[in-house]
Amino acid sequence: MAEPRRILVVHGPNLNLLGTREPAVYGSTTLAQIDAALAAHAKERGAQVECFQSNHEGALIDRIQDAPASADGILINPGGLTHTSVALRDALAATKLPVVEVHLSNVHAREDFRRHSYVSPIARGVVLGFGATSYRLGLEALLELLKEGR
Ligand code: DQA
Repeated sequence: MAEPRRILVVHGPNLNLLGTREPAVYGSTTLAQIDAALAAHAKERGAQVECFQSNHEGALIDRIQDAPASADGILINPGGLTHTSVALRDALAATKLPVVEVHLSNVHAREDFRRHSYVSPIARGVVLGFGATSYRLGLEALLELLKEGR
């Protein structure tokens, strides 16, 4: 049997606060619940996820640099770094792994500064605005890409 697909799930700054952070914007699901749902969903699809959250840009970059050794694709919600970090984008691009960007909120319906993403141009696709469901849809899309060998 083929090896299971391995997905690195990366959560950027402040996403550890999900559940209590601006629930009107981000919902009441906690990060632990999101990670558990992704793990269960991946298992159903014969895949595996490893989830990593940090509030530190350098720690995120270090983990992303290591990703090619242990992952076939990256699902990332870069949080506020979406709109500021060339370095995070460069780290993702350097892995050469397929990247899917997700956001809980519809960033285009919010402040203007959230409309630009440094990550989107190097992502294979973006899912946003569906709350915790964005992650599940993003995982589904990434697994489909990998299955098709795209
Ligand atoms: C977010 C949107 C970002 O603008 C914000 O800084 C976040 C969360 C989202 O998932 O909707 O931290 O990435």
